[in-house]
Amino acid sequence: MIKTVLQKTDPSYKIKSILEVGCGTGILGSNFMQENILYTGVDSSVEMLNVLRSKFPEQHVQTLNIDVEKEDVSSLEYNFVISQMAFHHLQNPMAVLKKLKKKTPVKIAIIDLDKEDGSFHPDPQGMGVRHFGFSKSEIQKWADEAGLTLQHYQIINTIHKNDNKYPQFLAVLG
Ligand SMILES: C[S@@+](CC[C@H](N)C(=O)[O-])C[C@H]1O[C@@H](n2cnc3c(N)ncnc32)[C@H](O)[C@@H]1O
Repeated sequence: MIKTVLQKTDPSYKIKSILEVGCGTGILGSNFMQENILYTGVDSSVEMLNVLRSKFPEQHVQTLNIDVEKEDVSSLEYNFVISQMAFHHLQNPMAVLKKLKKKTPVKIAIIDLDKEDGSFHPDPQGMGVRHFGFSKSEIQKWADEAGLTLQHYQIINTIHKNDNKYPQFLAVLG
């Protein structure tokens, strides 16, 4: 899905190196891991990164145990950022977006929950949930304030849980 969107919105764009924010065990990242692309997964959980490393021991896959809200990530090598279900754990997603920008062009693809009523996680506070999803207008605001363009937005999936429906969006900023 993400690759198709990139191809449609910017056919000349080539992924050279990837940063995955809140990579967890690499579920999304695994779709992008290939020998000629350096993949860096960052996560604040060592346990998650250990699982990722055991699944993907290849040299072009590297991991960093960092909290993206506290550390500077822009010096890492990437021209493409991906993130799935991690932004709702960030206290200040906009500040992180601003940090992810570089002097050279970077595209940022975010998959997360559309605005929800807080019922998605059984224990939001205990699970470190800072936001109950995000509306399209919030994403547009992030883009405007970070000096980025919202190049693509679409609902890509709906999670059925607790007799409820939770749509997930894909937003591509660049
Ligand atoms: C719901 S999990 C999603 C994991 C993975 N992206 C996936 O789709 O399965 C959220 C991940 O974000 C990580 N995370 C939360 N806050 C973070 C932060 N400030 N810096 C880095 N990683 C963070 C968590 O440790 C966790 O692995």
